[in-house]
Amino acid sequence: MPEVKLVNVTKKYGNIVANDNINLTINDGEYVSVIGPSGCGKTTLIKNISGIIKPDEGEIYIDGNLVNELSIEDRRIGYVFQNIALFPHMTVWGNITYGPEVRGWSLEETRPLALEMLELIKLSARSDAYPSELSGGTQQKTAVARALTSRAELLLLDEPFGALDVKVRTELRYELRKLVKDLGLTALHITHDQEEAMSISDRVIVMNSGRIVEVGDPIDLYTKPKNIFTANFVGEANFLTGIIIKISDDGSLIEIGDGLQLLTKNGNYNVSDRVVVAFRPEFAYTRDVTTSNTLSGIITDVMYSGSIGRVRVKLSNGDPIVAKMALGFKNSPFHVNDNVTIKILPENILVYPYPEKGLDIELALE
Ligand SMILES: Nc1ncnc2c1ncn2[C@@H]1O[C@H](COP(=O)(O)OP(=O)(O)OP(=O)(O)O)[C@@H](O)[C@H]1O
Ligand SMILES: [Mg+2]
Repeated sequence: MPEVKLVNVTKKYGNIVANDNINLTINDGEYVSVIGPSGCGKTTLIKNISGIIKPDEGEIYIDGNLVNELSIEDRRIGYVFQNIALFPHMTVWGNITYGPEVRGWSLEETRPLALEMLELIKLSARSDAYPSELSGGTQQKTAVARALTSRAELLLLDEPFGALDVKVRTELRYELRKLVKDLGLTALHITHDQEEAMSISDRVIVMNSGRIVEVGDPIDLYTKPKNIFTANFVGEANFLTGIIIKISDDGSLIEIGDGLQLLTKNGNYNVSDRVVVAFRPEFAYTRDVTTSNTLSGIITDVMYSGSIGRVRVKLSNGDPIVAKMALGFKNSPFHVNDNVTIKILPENILVYPYPEKGLDIELALE
């Protein structure tokens, strides 16, 4: 139920600015994920919120109250780490009732909540088991339950499923979101798994080099990223450089070399502006005829992955792109060295100002 607000929060370790002037509001009851390259400051962000560390500058508010000077215990936070940190010598029941016990809450007070948590995570039958007798997924569910029996209202999750295999984590992520929503908690969840972030979050925070680059709902972040970093970091994208050659009611026409031109509905540019064009492989698909907004090239790779087929294409201007195979047309599969035409709808072509540092540097992830 708490709202979390960070105002100009900065945390430095020597020369490293781990959190650089962070401004952020997480709404009451919201499920928010944090993604970004390793070392960009994700863990520092939630350590700041939890009180494990103190920011050098800035204010942190939980539920409207300034908590900078408040201890971890008084912030009503549940913290779940990647490395499963259950007490090995205690049973599931011992683990989930430990927090309340050290807080001096009586067993009568604790028992109903602990039982409810066991029921919610479907572990009532395993309450006498020791962590070593449980699977990794079940141990991590126990860690979540343990966080919640201390009456946490804000759940901070630092790659909670990082150590688990794909199938287990896919199941657990929906269970976790449901738990958070059913109990009306607020959750901030760090993950390296973009699909996890996109599929369970109300909003996703993208971080880089200690800063928040962009915050948005998953669909907007994916389809209309506001900057090159997000377009590159979230999902896959093709990037090409070009010059705006015409502006009309239809949009902006961009020349990308060798007479190849693309019309875009996005952005607000002037003729002669140098730009970066980006589009997702799945929005660029093979056609057997040249129609409007197409690029021509030669297939250099054919890649099937189950139901989806992709082709790597060398455009006639020399640039490589990846596009989706439109299967079925002419019933003919695609071959390396085939000439091909790639269609992209103007609304799916994203445009950014050409970065000062150059495109290659902008696209390099540390
Ligand atoms: N206690 C510390 N002492 C010195 N430097 C630190 C400390 N904690 C973090 N850092 C540095 O601060 C930066 C941010 O670290 P942080 O752990 O927040 O990154 P992260 O985004 O969580 O990375 P990862 O995805 O690898 O977990 C990194 O450069 C890291 O080396
Ligand atoms: Mg981390």
